[in-house]
Amino acid sequence: LHVAIIMDGNGRWAARRGMPRSAGHVRGARVVRTIVAAALGERIDLLTLYAFSMDNWTRPPAEVAALLRLFRRYLLTETRRCVEQRVRLSVIGRRDRLSPQLLAAIERAEEATATGSRLHLRIALDYSARYSIMEAASRSNRPSDMQEFLRLINEVNHASTSAPRDVDLLIRTGGEQRLSDFLLWECAYAELYFTDCLWPDFDASGLARALADFAGRHRRYGRIEAAAARRN
Ligand code: IPE
Ligand code: IPE
Ligand code: MG
Repeated sequence: LHVAIIMDGNGRWAARRGMPRSAGHVRGARVVRTIVAAALGERIDLLTLYAFSMDNWTRPPAEVAALLRLFRRYLLTETRRCVEQRVRLSVIGRRDRLSPQLLAAIERAEEATATGSRLHLRIALDYSARYSIMEAASRSNRPSDMQEFLRLINEVNHASTSAPRDVDLLIRTGGEQRLSDFLLWECAYAELYFTDCLWPDFDASGLARALADFAGRHRRYGRIEAAAARRN
């Protein structure tokens, strides 16, 4: 199962407590650890987390810097845990605007966890679905070749596989019901799950609730159900 999560609501969580937004991000990073551990106990083999969008660069420089620092710290501390838990960690998105220190931390984490086979954890950083689709289209010499186009989308995002993988369940915390430029191609047939729970308050039981809800959905991909077909 490919589960993707838009981890939203850190700023509001902090504001409600009279704390700076960055304090919400610190709590949010802790929840990532909890959710990765919880995902190991579920039938999830790919987990893609939205950590920083291309549009997030428009936030105040101090918040951007705090987020990127936190992200680097997360990579440095979590790599060992990922190795132990046999989690493969990779980062998707653009890499041309990240600091050399952050780039080095990403490459080290990806290398150290490359053989992890229990769960593939992907963190989206400086990510924009629209940008990757546009850029793939402009790099393509054979626009009608779908496989080539998909390969290029992944190349733009530094994703390791040859084609994007469809999302089965998309979760967004924080109460907003939108995609905010996340995995637009991959979510074509995703089941969407929105919760008002702010990301720093999200936990294993929240993930379990989303998965239980998902289990009750009927995915048809444009077809009609077998029972309905028999009735006709
Ligand atoms: C999500 O929380 C984290 C990032 C976008 C990096 P926000 O920072 O968007 O928190 P809210 O939506 O303002 O509460
Ligand atoms: C989406 O959240 C990006 C991440 C969670 C990293 P935003 O808070 O940036 O999205 P909008 O602005 O509410 O659409
Ligand atoms: Mg937000």
